[in-house]
Amino acid sequence: MSEINLLNTHPTAKRNYDKRAAEKTPEIIRLAKQFGKDFFDGDRKCGYGGYKYDGRWKAVVERMRQYYNLPSNAAILDVGCGKGFMLHDFKEVMPNCSVAGIDVSEYALEHSMPSVKPFLKVASAEPLPYPDNSFDLVVSINSIHNLPLEACKKSLQEIERVSKGKSYITVDAWRNDLERENLLKWVLTAETYMHVNDWKKLFSNIGFTGDYYWFIAD
Ligand SMILES: C[S@@+](CC[C@H](N)C(=O)[O-])C[C@H]1O[C@@H](n2cnc3c(N)ncnc32)[C@H](O)[C@@H]1O
Repeated sequence: MSEINLLNTHPTAKRNYDKRAAEKTPEIIRLAKQFGKDFFDGDRKCGYGGYKYDGRWKAVVERMRQYYNLPSNAAILDVGCGKGFMLHDFKEVMPNCSVAGIDVSEYALEHSMPSVKPFLKVASAEPLPYPDNSFDLVVSINSIHNLPLEACKKSLQEIERVSKGKSYITVDAWRNDLERENLLKWVLTAETYMHVNDWKKLFSNIGFTGDYYWFIAD
């Protein structure tokens, strides 16, 4: 298992942490946690403020293809796939791969990329609805931290179970007090977030052997 940022080709976002903290009412949090239209395509206060395909995953999946030495017909699962943008780009980069995605959001799946829609299921990350050792690569970007601690641990064990050994996750974390303060201002939907060293201990305690990186509010 390695700590590695495979998403560093993503454009960097400027975030106004104080504005988010001031706008984050219990009602906004309630709406965001429904993972419906408000979260994806509603006001920025509630989430993405418009979750649109822009091809940014292409460079990431190319990097994953090389880093994990994926065969052209690899089977790939995205846990918390949203509208399937990353899986769409996997199909663009590796046309012979097979893709699968799960997400709790009926809204996201209804509005998902037509190219991958047939391969997406509404499901929570624990348990994952697939047999053991089903996938050459399991990816989960900024999703499993939305589960409360015990369920989050279970989802990591599920990722471990359904993968043939290669997986990559990113979760909310901090490395210092300022990043912690910023993250606490920023989080809308996450239930499980901690210092990077605590995540590493958790991975080891529950037997998660995949690679990982962080959503850092710096
Ligand atoms: C921040 S979005 C990330 C979406 C996508 N992975 C990306 O990076 O663009 C978090 C995603 O986690 C999904 N999610 C929340 N709780 C979940 C759960 N229990 N199981 C699976 N997905 C969940 C949400 O619906 C949402 O699509």
